[in-house]
Amino acid sequence: MLDVSDLHVSYGNVEAVRGIGMTVRPGRVTLVLGANGAGKTTTLKAVAGLERPHAGKVTLDGTDITGLAPHKIVRRGIALVPEGRRVFSPLTVGENLRMGGYTADRSKATETLDRVNEMFPILAERAGSAAGLLSGGEQQMLAFGRALMSQPSIMLLDEPSMGLAPAVVDSILAKVRQMADSGIGILMVEQNAEAGLDVADDVVAVARGEVVFSGPAAEARDNTSVLRAFLGEAALAGTDD
Ligand SMILES: Nc1ncnc2c1ncn2[C@@H]1O[C@H](COP(=O)(O)OP(=O)(O)OP(=O)(O)O)[C@@H](O)[C@H]1O
Ligand SMILES: [Mg+2]
Repeated sequence: MLDVSDLHVSYGNVEAVRGIGMTVRPGRVTLVLGANGAGKTTTLKAVAGLERPHAGKVTLDGTDITGLAPHKIVRRGIALVPEGRRVFSPLTVGENLRMGGYTADRSKATETLDRVNEMFPILAERAGSAAGLLSGGEQQMLAFGRALMSQPSIMLLDEPSMGLAPAVVDSILAKVRQMADSGIGILMVEQNAEAGLDVADDVVAVARGEVVFSGPAAEARDNTSVLRAFLGEAALAGTDD
């Protein structure tokens, strides 16, 4: 279980995250909602060790991992899938996956690759193709697969549906659900609140660096008027009241 408490992160003298807390449990999807600039990406980066919090605590299964170097955090089982996917375009799909496994237990690497290829058959089919030739949705699956190669217990997903066509969004989020159902705890930032709520168990809404709602996804759905007040219309476009 990942536990983030009273996290504070600043850029210079601008405090982007001001006391955010959240919990991610195995097999569950925690959805983070919030308007542009609310501090969502900064929170994920601080958990992943890419930004150093000046206060607060991040624990993984009870162990304090606050401020550890990014590669150490990956080794402990937390994998970040950054916004924009960032696959290595000139490298093949297979090479991208192998790079994702460099921190992992080598004796399990083949087994892990088999599981990734089973979950994402397209990656097996395209193993020898340059990653840059894949569609946006396929590149997102590759980014998921690359993260899975590090054998994570927790995955941090920053806007996985960004820039994808609606039909592709649904298939990507179905994969997110499938990864959670395999036992991984998922912390997902998603601007598409409606699609995100369909696969989420828990919701944390943030505004201006603070948590403004935290609770079960069903409760968040019933609270769209509250969320709208904090997040703005755009974040909830299409969500039923
Ligand atoms: N590297 C940086 N240097 C300075 N300020 C930054 C940096 N990254 C983010 N910020 C600022 O911190 C605040 C939070 O940004 P963050 O990227 O965490 O928001 P976000 O919720 O992910 O937004 P978005 O929906 O646009 O992705 C914003 O005011 C942003 O301008
Ligand atoms: Mg962001």
